[in-house]
Amino acid sequence: MIYVHLIGHNFRYEIRELIKAYYFSKKIVFIDDLDEYDNGILIENVLYNNIGQIRSITKVYIDHSLIFNSSIQKIEQMNIGKHETYKKIKIGVKQSLYEALNNISNTILPWGILTGVRPVKIVHDLIDNGFKDNEILNILTEQYKIFSEKANLILNIAHKQRNHIHPLDKNRFSLYVSIPFCPTRCLYCSFPSCNIGKYGYLVDKYTDNLIYEINRIAELMSGKSISTVYIGGGTPSAIPNKNLEKIIKTIYKNFGRNNIDEITVEAGRPDTIDVGLLKMLKENEVDRISINPQTMNDSTLKVIGRQHNSDEIINAYNLAKNVGIGVVNMDLIVGLPSEGIDEIENTLEKLKYLDPENLTVHTLAIKRGSKFRHVIDQYDLKDQNELEAMLKETKLFAEEMNLKPYYLYRQKQIMGNFENVGYAKEGKECIYNIKMMEEKETIIAVGMGAVSKIFYPKENRIERVPNVKSLKEYLERIDEMVARKVNFMS
Ligand SMILES: C[S@@+](CC[C@H](N)C(=O)[O-])C[C@H]1O[C@@H](n2cnc3c(N)ncnc32)[C@H](O)[C@@H]1O
Ligand code: SF4
Repeated sequence: MIYVHLIGHNFRYEIRELIKAYYFSKKIVFIDDLDEYDNGILIENVLYNNIGQIRSITKVYIDHSLIFNSSIQKIEQMNIGKHETYKKIKIGVKQSLYEALNNISNTILPWGILTGVRPVKIVHDLIDNGFKDNEILNILTEQYKIFSEKANLILNIAHKQRNHIHPLDKNRFSLYVSIPFCPTRCLYCSFPSCNIGKYGYLVDKYTDNLIYEINRIAELMSGKSISTVYIGGGTPSAIPNKNLEKIIKTIYKNFGRNNIDEITVEAGRPDTIDVGLLKMLKENEVDRISINPQTMNDSTLKVIGRQHNSDEIINAYNLAKNVGIGVVNMDLIVGLPSEGIDEIENTLEKLKYLDPENLTVHTLAIKRGSKFRHVIDQYDLKDQNELEAMLKETKLFAEEMNLKPYYLYRQKQIMGNFENVGYAKEGKECIYNIKMMEEKETIIAVGMGAVSKIFYPKENRIERVPNVKSLKEYLERIDEMVARKVNFMS
């Protein structure tokens, strides 16, 4: 247990997230009175604001003995690229906590004080506000304490993304379609999805509801222009081809294939892919699909509950290429149970011969809603250094294969506080991924568990409009799902 005592501010959320990045499984308790501290670790953070001179002091006690003391002075003078004192204080408080946590845990986290999901957004904001590259790197490394390698990475990614984001346009939108069915539940996964074996009898009704929602959304969005479409999940290819085709055709009927810049269908699991599916996707002019290995090691595939082996991944990939699918993405996860550097090298060696246009490298996140969370003690998980070494292998592999990083995000409960990176061959980037991650365009999302994000360019903010997460509720409350979006858009 870690006790935390805050005085002079209430950045509880930020402090909890930063401590969790170091001490993932420890319980964190905020106390108002020191009498509540029993023994173990106590972190005390005090914010002083003396006639505009602001400083933050962090003290760490173990069993009541002071073992560390750090202070950040002149917070009001910090250059973070923003004027608001409130934001400077938040960063100053996190900096003093970061120093303390580095010291007591003997670990230095590569993303510094950042705990958010979208670090590239910080770079876009700084570019928008006229900062030069060297000034941005300085702010990222000096104030956010991000390692120089990561700071350069997100700066390069932001520059790569600018053409796809600008000019901002409040009348343009992308469409996300959720197909929440999977053949089995993977050990690590917490996405809202239903077992196709158990709920397959509802797929026709689900398809009808989805089509109804898409038709209504088309009315709502008339006069606005569509940019990209992403059919994701779950595993969209888990439903019958005729249902998936009906959904794709509905999108085209409403928005026009020629008006859509890019359409992706996440085929995902090789055990849902056959030549009939691939031909249907090709005939319907789908630009991009995913065939996701996660790993090319058969024993790990079994452990994580995927009912396919690495040969099936290779076969599915070759079929997709023979049929003529233009862009294939492959998802990997680094840090899967019992996987070390040898296993990653084996995975990469096998992918080398496939040479996909896109590769997305995730770091394992131990999600609260996953099966993994409950059985984590049974597995051997890698530490910070090993994870870093594995991620480095994937980075070198991407360089060798001419795959360039083009989007990046982080997740809550991500191991080692690392990141997920999307790589692409030049000109083959998934534009939807950029738009969705950087939140600079409205995304209208339909289907169970889908979250629409309405973008307000003038205020540079988005408003989230979620659909319900349960299949039963979605099937029963479809008009309400439409009405929620109508309320916001009108
Ligand atoms: C929404 S899932 C859908 C993909 C598809 N159903 C499949 O499994 O191939 C998208 C990707 O997120 C990644 N992912 C899901 N859960 C994760 C976790 N807990 N940690 C890291 N990556 C995860 C996987 O690489 C997965 O392919
Ligand atoms: S990782 Fe993909 S296939 Fe596995 S449960 Fe999650 S969404 Fe379904």
